[in-house]
Amino acid sequence: MLNEDGTRMDGRRPDELRKIEIEAGVVPVADGSARVQWGTNLAIAAVYGPMEAHPRKISRQDRCVLDVRYNMAPFSVTDRIRPGFNRRSREIGKVTANALESVVQLELYPRSKIRVEIEIMCAEAGTRCVGLTAASVALADAGIPMTDMVVSVASGRVNGVVVLDLNKEEDNYGDADLPMGILPNSGELVFLQMDGDLSPEDFQEAWDYNMGAAKEIHEIMVAALAARYGGDA
Ligand code: CDP
Repeated sequence: MLNEDGTRMDGRRPDELRKIEIEAGVVPVADGSARVQWGTNLAIAAVYGPMEAHPRKISRQDRCVLDVRYNMAPFSVTDRIRPGFNRRSREIGKVTANALESVVQLELYPRSKIRVEIEIMCAEAGTRCVGLTAASVALADAGIPMTDMVVSVASGRVNGVVVLDLNKEEDNYGDADLPMGILPNSGELVFLQMDGDLSPEDFQEAWDYNMGAAKEIHEIMVAALAARYGGDA
């Protein structure tokens, strides 16, 4: 999985991200939206609301609720994915909602909901991070007040070496994966999952890679909003 000179199969250094391109406002009928091309991943996020919370049972007297859906398109991977939600997509929707609830100023919209739809068009590892990052930009594009934008990125270990932003092969055959959701301004953590085992030292290295990359990705997110709205967004 690693070349003799320490580079990875796709030529990246261990601490190098895949290429990331972000565009805000790609779904004209939505209140906010974003497209994130991250390596060969492609995600679109669309935000609708705030609107009255329906069904009534999800409504909260004192705050808004986030209704987040993550879905992989049937054509997003080579083996066709059965349309509709499954355990994995529900879990990712839930952890994404939890992460976003840490930053959206929910108390401003009692008895309301904001719908966040994340559609993965092409999936090559790290799609929960790509989707969460896209959703953050879409919420900002919709003008939803937030204390910060969540930046999400994963690091992991391949052949005993900690690497940033695993690609598909590294994700499939690597030893561990550590996706995180980070608030770039404060360095706070709002989401963390771990697949596989990491020693305390490797965990720290993966953590540091993610924290460093979050700043880099945040700049791309801000630039996408600035390109749409002008100034420094
Ligand atoms: O995408 P992410 O790394 O957040 O989640 P994962 O469950 O670790 O999936 C890793 C990759 O496996 C995805 O990005 C897809 O490329 C692939 N996958 C798939 O081919 N079929 C599925 N039903 C789920 C995932």
